[in-house]
Amino acid sequence: MSTPTQKIDFADLDRRYSFHPFTALAQHETHGPAVVMAGGDGVWLEDVEGKRYIDGMAGLWCVNVGYGRKELAEAMRDQAETLSYCHAFSSMSSDKPALLAERLVRNSPGPMSKVFFGNSGSDANDTQVKLVWYYNNVRGKPKKKKIISRRRGYHGVTVVSGGLTGLPGVHAGFDLPLQFIRHVSPPHRLWEGHGLDDAAFVAKLIDELEQLIAVEGADTIGAMIAEPIMGAGGVIVPPDGYFEAVQAVLKKHDILLIADEVICGFGRLGHWFGSEALGLEPDLITIAKGVTSAYFPLSGVMVSEEVWRTLVEGEKKYGPFGHGYTYSAHPIGAATALANLDIIENEGLVEAAAVRGEHLHKRLQEAFGEHPLVGEVRGRGLIGAVEFVARQDPPQAFDPALKVAIRIAGKALENGVITRALPAADTVAFSPPLTISDDEIDSLVHGVREAVDSVTNELSKSGDWQA
Ligand SMILES: Cc1ncc(COP(=O)(O)O)c(C=O)c1O
Repeated sequence: MSTPTQKIDFADLDRRYSFHPFTALAQHETHGPAVVMAGGDGVWLEDVEGKRYIDGMAGLWCVNVGYGRKELAEAMRDQAETLSYCHAFSSMSSDKPALLAERLVRNSPGPMSKVFFGNSGSDANDTQVKLVWYYNNVRGKPKKKKIISRRRGYHGVTVVSGGLTGLPGVHAGFDLPLQFIRHVSPPHRLWEGHGLDDAAFVAKLIDELEQLIAVEGADTIGAMIAEPIMGAGGVIVPPDGYFEAVQAVLKKHDILLIADEVICGFGRLGHWFGSEALGLEPDLITIAKGVTSAYFPLSGVMVSEEVWRTLVEGEKKYGPFGHGYTYSAHPIGAATALANLDIIENEGLVEAAAVRGEHLHKRLQEAFGEHPLVGEVRGRGLIGAVEFVARQDPPQAFDPALKVAIRIAGKALENGVITRALPAADTVAFSPPLTISDDEIDSLVHGVREAVDSVTNELSKSGDWQA
């Protein structure tokens, strides 16, 4: 007997009924989805037609332990059977979130004290901003509310976090950013470095930060938010000494540092946290994605002891802390996270990310280091990017209308390889599951190289680019 699923046109259903995030709506309504996935195993995805794809992006930089992990399925099922839900308002508690909070604090970079759980990176960053405001209200500094972020930073899409995100496509049409957010330049060597060495480039970026603080007034600025390595904005690795210098400025002006570890946390850079790899000593940390390898939506805000003590003080002034989500500290999310952290620890995936990362960067250099279309190859651990330029020296971007990176990612998909064209420039990214093998890395890089060559030929033929 044939199963009913064989007759269903999923692509057409999707085209007619799904409202997709970060998607060209008119194009989707006409052409439908690029692909409809139906299965996943390890670093591989399979679509409804049975075609297999190597997922070079671990979904959206999040499936750290790979697809189809039975241990996680069991942890989720067991928890659903035992205690499917318990809220955390008004001092209600359940066992798994308590275990998870202790484990996260014990392994956190720097002296963190508590974890507040949420559901997504975006809501966690909204929580961060509210904590900074509350903290400064309790301290009697009600003017100290502005938040500094960086152009190309990605911190989410909610009304507050979407403004922290420094990408025009996230602001356009949404009346963002809100008025208390300020952006400074990203530490992007290709476009902002102008041939400077690391020390001079850092000095230039710090000068800009100092000037912004001087113009706005330090007494109006509450915090700066930063990803250790910027992900969606281009996989941007800062020059040596950058965060050390940034932190010295922030400390001088009594400005908190929020480390957005949503991508970098849980092994991606070959360290448990990006802060360890890049030398950040944050007051507040945002986590999501890799904490559950995206098997369950769970995020967290980690708070330093110093910030925590002030929040506790706030009770005298404001009563019980008036913020939280129905799904904060969800027991299934916490059980999933605990099982996921067990896998990362037991399989040595943090160390594996460092070792496989070296292989990835060697292969990326071999495949793209000398390619005439490539402006920069960059990354660290199991995160990397290749940025394409119309001219190399000095670098000149392609006309965005040519959609170079989008075409490359599209060709790669046709070849069964998933990469991601990042929104801010002609960059494709690599962020595979930490379980990827060297052979799979070779297939991934080879597949993208073929796609790049194919688009290079097209551009050459159409007269849009010449060697
Ligand atoms: C660094 C960073 N912060 C925050 C977010 C937002 O997370 P979410 O999409 O879960 O809201 C993302 C998502 O990609 C991210 O990369």
